[in-house]
Amino acid sequence: MNTIERIKTRRSIRKFTDVPVAKDTMNEIVSAASYAPSWKNSQTVRYVVIESAELLQKIANDATLGFEHNKGIISGCKTLVAAVTTSGKCGYNPDGTFTTSKGDKWEAFDAGIAVQTFCLAASELGVGTVILGIFDEALLGQLLGLPEGQYVAALIATGYPDVEPKAPARKDVSELIEYK
Ligand SMILES: Cc1cc2nc3c(=O)[nH]c(=O)nc-3n(C[C@H](O)[C@H](O)[C@H](O)COP(=O)(O)O)c2cc1C
Repeated sequence: MNTIERIKTRRSIRKFTDVPVAKDTMNEIVSAASYAPSWKNSQTVRYVVIESAELLQKIANDATLGFEHNKGIISGCKTLVAAVTTSGKCGYNPDGTFTTSKGDKWEAFDAGIAVQTFCLAASELGVGTVILGIFDEALLGQLLGLPEGQYVAALIATGYPDVEPKAPARKDVSELIEYK
């Protein structure tokens, strides 16, 4: 499959088989994700792979902000990945001031690119993913023992797809593009 086909056929997967993602496969996905572009090649995103059934259940029960939909997804996956980033590196000058008017928003920008690269690489290897944005950031930081200055940018539930979802509708190119 070429890159454009991969981009178009990757789907968010919310139901997984019981087969966990092997460490070798996860390492290969993260290796591919490490090629994502980042602010001055700062590469701030780290991947915390949660395999402990006990920790997964605790996150599902306590760190989904009461959003049952995400609780169900996390309860049903064997491998949850926390994409963790570090504050104060993307978007800054060496003296600590912001480089652009976007301030520290480049941090989330870099994490987004890294996470999409992760999801595309996973899809290439037959691993399904869904990005989860609704979670209790402070509690997750505690549960994962993240040091000061690091936080979870996004969760990615991973596993082997047990469903074949149709692509949600996309806007027409004419709505997305403007030439000047
Ligand atoms: C930043 C972000 C946060 C998301 N959060 C959630 C979420 O909390 N729960 C969920 O089921 N899907 C979540 N999604 C997945 C989107 O719903 C999904 O990407 C979108 O519906 C398009 O479907 P597709 O990924 O299959 O193309 C999120 C996606 C992004 C990019």
